[in-house]
Amino acid sequence: MRVIIVDSYEQMGVEAANIVAGQIYLKPASVLGLATGSTPVSMYQRLAAVHRTVGLDFSEVTTFNLDEYIGMGADNPQSYHYFMWENFFKHINIKPENVYIPNGMAEDMEAEGERYEKLIAGKGGIDLQVLGIGQNAHIGFNEPDVKFAATTHKVELDEETIQANSRFFGSIDEVPRYAISMGIKTIMMAEHVVLLASGKNKARAVYKAVCGDVTPEAPASILQLHRDVAVIVDKEAAALLPETIRGVHITRKG
Ligand code: F6R
Repeated sequence: MRVIIVDSYEQMGVEAANIVAGQIYLKPASVLGLATGSTPVSMYQRLAAVHRTVGLDFSEVTTFNLDEYIGMGADNPQSYHYFMWENFFKHINIKPENVYIPNGMAEDMEAEGERYEKLIAGKGGIDLQVLGIGQNAHIGFNEPDVKFAATTHKVELDEETIQANSRFFGSIDEVPRYAISMGIKTIMMAEHVVLLASGKNKARAVYKAVCGDVTPEAPASILQLHRDVAVIVDKEAAALLPETIRGVHITRKG
């Protein structure tokens, strides 16, 4: 794992966008794994700016999102489909047919999980997976558990996750209880991984991911076993990391 500590949420987005842009320059037909939530928004904004200003080309890029709430159609403003179009896809030149997000309205979630895994495999697997992290150290919606769930599957969200995500809803009762998420194996099969975290409420989860025991009780800890992970965190999220494993500290001016 390479730990990159930056000064702010915006810088985290810039560093992550640089990695994603580098991936696309090197391989225009890259397959990206993408996350929703507050964390990657600054990265999406930066990528959209790079597209606008220097023409970063997404026309051959394919994307697979990590997860979707069950029971939410693509036109629901709370859905992750909607989030991705609003925050990213509509600002770049990606082809709609190259965008994949699990179908939260599928009748049979097991079949939907299998379909999604086949789609990923059919595109040759994910080149670069972008991850956020939950306060409970979940990645995707792989919640703390007694075992690592392997492939795309239906999950019951933790109370902590429901609580954390209620900030996007009118009330906690409106937060869906179930989601469909890529599994740990799906994530671990990606060629490269970028894990992003910002803010002091993520410090404990970042510590568990980087320095804790590898255990399904802290799902992000599995990333210690992946061969190529960049952890990009701001100072608050890095607060509990020991000096010895603090890698690069990047401060950019302007
Ligand atoms: C969302 C996802 C989740 C989030 C995590 C952090 O697609 O995969 O694991 O990354 O819940 O959410 P935020 O960024 O809102 O703190």
